[in-house]
Amino acid sequence: MEEVDFSWERAKARRFGVWRYRELLPLRDDLRPVTLSEGGTPLIKVSNLYEKRVVNTPNTYVKFEGANPTGSFKDRGMTVGVTIAKSLSVDGVVVASTGNTAASAAAYAARAGLRCLVVLPKGGVAIGKLAQALLHGAEVREVEGTFDTALELVLESVMGGEMERFYPLNSYNPWRLEGQKTLAFEVVEELGEVPDFVLVPVGNAGNISAIWKGFKELYSFGYADKLPRMVGVQAEAAAPLAKAWALGLKKPVFVDDPRTIASAIRIGRPVNWSKAMRAVEESKGFFVSVDDGEILDAMRLLAREEGIGVEPASSVSLAALRRVAGEGRIGKGDLVVLVATGHALKDPDAMMGKLKV
Ligand code: F0G
Repeated sequence: MEEVDFSWERAKARRFGVWRYRELLPLRDDLRPVTLSEGGTPLIKVSNLYEKRVVNTPNTYVKFEGANPTGSFKDRGMTVGVTIAKSLSVDGVVVASTGNTAASAAAYAARAGLRCLVVLPKGGVAIGKLAQALLHGAEVREVEGTFDTALELVLESVMGGEMERFYPLNSYNPWRLEGQKTLAFEVVEELGEVPDFVLVPVGNAGNISAIWKGFKELYSFGYADKLPRMVGVQAEAAAPLAKAWALGLKKPVFVDDPRTIASAIRIGRPVNWSKAMRAVEESKGFFVSVDDGEILDAMRLLAREEGIGVEPASSVSLAALRRVAGEGRIGKGDLVVLVATGHALKDPDAMMGKLKV
């Protein structure tokens, strides 16, 4: 049998992506990962955008999470979540989703030999994501209403015991956040330093909390000498956290009818709101919202000036950087990372319809 080696250097040399950081994931040593080699995504300097004066920060990078196996950052968390699900000998996994979580859960469940139930807001999921969930054999249920309705249904069924043998994998699941925190590790390793600002699209608010956790761990373990400021970005008509921030409130201003072209973050009641608020507060960052016009402009600019194809929920990071540029909140000398959460292919309608490519 292969001897287990706990040394950091050897672990790094042998492993790729999320599992390269296994020693920083609080998992039992005997767990066998359910993996598709997720993580290890490109960190791309967007120099053309600076040269064309689209942004005024010369040191700006895009962390392109669309390069994950199912095309979004969800794979980082799903590899860990499904590994745990498999170890618990459940029948399957269950998620509510705006699409990417469903696609990712379906793929990893397939790999693990588990059933996958997904609950989606009817008409609210981009076609590429729905197609992926079906391709990987998920059992799909559509509900009238929003993502928030779908999540409520999943929570009620799980809590009510109707789905005892199904493991819930929405982003309140701590294992998913453990996997997603590895984005911070990759950014610091690749840049060789901690960025000044990290801009993250916010929907259910799990990812920004996870990434902040990653940076804090690096700092507390002595791998980093400072912490970044976290900027949470929402779409204007789906902005419970950005709105609260603007009003100086400590609690979100929930939205019953969230609306935006960025369907992935069309969420009015983010379940992880308190963790996300803490992340932004602790890091001395801020929340900001951008409108659909800015989102589509940013999507077009990334695609045409830099060759990076992202879905609308991902271009909000660039849109936010542009919006705050004039206000001096992020300065010329700052090292900036824009998290681009999902691939353009996820949402063909956004590419062909509104963008008029
Ligand atoms: N960007 C994309 C492309 C997403 O799919 C999501 C969330 C987010 C950003 C926001 O991340 O929820 O952790 O704040 N999508 C979930 C889903 C809700 O069901 O796929 P968050």
